[in-house]
Amino acid sequence: MTRAATVRAVDVIARKRDGGEIPADQLRDFVLAYAREELPDYQMAAFLMAGYLRGFTRRETEALTEAMVASGDRLDLSRLSGPTVDKHSTGGVADGTTLVVGPLAAALGMQVIKLSGRGLGHTGGTLDKLESIPGFRVGLGTAELLDQVERVGLAVAAQTADLVPADKSIYALRDVTGTVGNISLIASSVMSKKLAGGAASILLDVKTGSGAFMHEISEAVELARTCVELGEAAGRATAALVTDMNQPLGELVGNAVEVREAVEALRGERPGRFLDLCLTLTGHLAALAGKAANPEAGRRDAERALERGDGLERFRQFVAAQDGDPRVADDLSLLPQAPSTLEVEAPRDGWLAAVDAEAVGRVAAALGAGRQRKDDDIDPAVAVELSGKLGDKVEAGQPIGRILARDEGAARSAAEGLLATLRWSDRPAQAPPLVHEVVGA
Ligand code: URA
Repeated sequence: MTRAATVRAVDVIARKRDGGEIPADQLRDFVLAYAREELPDYQMAAFLMAGYLRGFTRRETEALTEAMVASGDRLDLSRLSGPTVDKHSTGGVADGTTLVVGPLAAALGMQVIKLSGRGLGHTGGTLDKLESIPGFRVGLGTAELLDQVERVGLAVAAQTADLVPADKSIYALRDVTGTVGNISLIASSVMSKKLAGGAASILLDVKTGSGAFMHEISEAVELARTCVELGEAAGRATAALVTDMNQPLGELVGNAVEVREAVEALRGERPGRFLDLCLTLTGHLAALAGKAANPEAGRRDAERALERGDGLERFRQFVAAQDGDPRVADDLSLLPQAPSTLEVEAPRDGWLAAVDAEAVGRVAAALGAGRQRKDDDIDPAVAVELSGKLGDKVEAGQPIGRILARDEGAARSAAEGLLATLRWSDRPAQAPPLVHEVVGA
């Protein structure tokens, strides 16, 4: 803590340990002292565990979020004509919605600023997907980012180290101290980055199910509510959709393949749950940003922008603006291709009753599509395709997916891994809804 601080760090920790509420100014001092490296990891770790076990009040969660934002730079978007919007997914599998929602929202007159991270573990990262486009550059300076948003309506860039540095160090500590899964800590981590990103409207896609952080819908709804309250308290128009992640959202899990799926969706050639959610999210963004009377009207506008080809044209402009090859929108063979392909067939007759979506993500990561550690390289071409969806009826031997791999051995073991993630039933199985709940706006 700073020399001026009136309360010792150990007293803050002990108060939380005993279930007390920490006053906002003390919490702020505590977090900022840690961000300045004046507080050792062991004290922050003890505090996080106390908070994980005792919980945080709404006031504490707000103070935590404000302190995290104050630990670094904020993007100043005042020179943009607006309306500025940001969307964020809490992380899923085959969840490349940004690549479709971004261009559609830009086509509807919104200015989309998205600062993203890389994929880790079983979930893919938007930056990795975009970097599979030849030449695509994610390292944009602030002036360049704002110029591009003004010109094209959309920019997706790597989050710099100066934005919410406290979250970076606290998240790393949570990761190794068993304190990730606390709603207040997740909400303050997510929302501090969104608030520092500066957009006036924020839409959250909170995933729930076998491939999400939150396996229970009730927990996901609580996280969504907490995030929306934090956004609204900070003066931003905020809403959240709690959406299903009991199976991969799209059919393709990887990097280049998710760009392919997005392009095909923007061309109107790939109907399904992925495109459905992209249109719904764009509709909600349009309503939040004041571009549509309500989310349903916004969705209809998004459908029209898709049909006119406006979304695909924005995608081309966005890719070109970040030095990527815009011809990928018309020629998907320009994306990296894996040398080995293996069809995966249904092992029996029946209905697809359950998918361990997290395990599907892990199969793709093990092929090389994801990373286990922050500095691992990824292979942009390898992928898992699962075209079967929950509730589908299949016959033994029917194709349900494909593996795209570096070699036959890797493809075979990934095919086995993929089949192990699926559970079949002799009776008709229900497909889950796409959107479980809408919170806010
Ligand atoms: N994503 C984040 O940014 N932070 C969390 O704590 C969890 C998911």
